[in-house]
Amino acid sequence: MALMRLDKFLADQGVASRKELRNIIRQGRVSVDGKAVTKPETKIDSDVNRVSLDGDIISYSKYRYFMIDKPCGVVTATEDKKQKTVLDLLSPEMRRMDLFPVGRLDKDTSGLLLLTNDGDFAHRVISPKFSVQKRYYAEVEGEPTEADEKAFKNGIELRDGLKCRPAELVRLGGNRCEVVLTEGKYHQVRRMLASCGKPVTVLRRLSIGALKLDENLGEGGYRELDENDLCKVFSPE
Ligand code: URA
Repeated sequence: MALMRLDKFLADQGVASRKELRNIIRQGRVSVDGKAVTKPETKIDSDVNRVSLDGDIISYSKYRYFMIDKPCGVVTATEDKKQKTVLDLLSPEMRRMDLFPVGRLDKDTSGLLLLTNDGDFAHRVISPKFSVQKRYYAEVEGEPTEADEKAFKNGIELRDGLKCRPAELVRLGGNRCEVVLTEGKYHQVRRMLASCGKPVTVLRRLSIGALKLDENLGEGGYRELDENDLCKVFSPE
């Protein structure tokens, strides 16, 4: 592990802003291997040195991963001049972690959205090459039919001629269904169902791979993912 500045180490963990940390460190509240260190620029090795703040050990992880239950009405972006973004829902500590959304849910789609600062991870989740399954719950105008199920299985051709991969449509009765995709074209679920004459009225993402949305989070709620959760993202349902 390369050496890094003590204030950066602490800022990366969302402890406080770099500016606040400079004061905290100068006040002698931070120790490295049990000894108080008062210079923010002190170089430390996160694999070797034990850093504590007010006596509490701060363990280091370069990359952070969260799930959020995205509400409708919020845009999937890191910033927007006019509209509320998913990052606006996070605590100040989390907003310091350079997180970004993994892929995109439309403004009017709710449900499971991952946030991370790990670009490789995001690429593996989004890229069709890795075929990570995404499951959605949808309500539509009309009733999905067996013919729609077959059309999804054979690969829907969108109205603009774009061909989709074979996908799964599960009828739940009445106007309700679930859709499972392994790719993520723009507005894909809405466009696939619209091409069957079933415009979407409600759309919610339920899972990514074997990782299910934690329904206890509530709208706008979020939690950090552990190693077990991360393995699930790349496991079949
Ligand atoms: N498909 C859509 O149409 N919208 C989403 O937000 C996600 C998948």
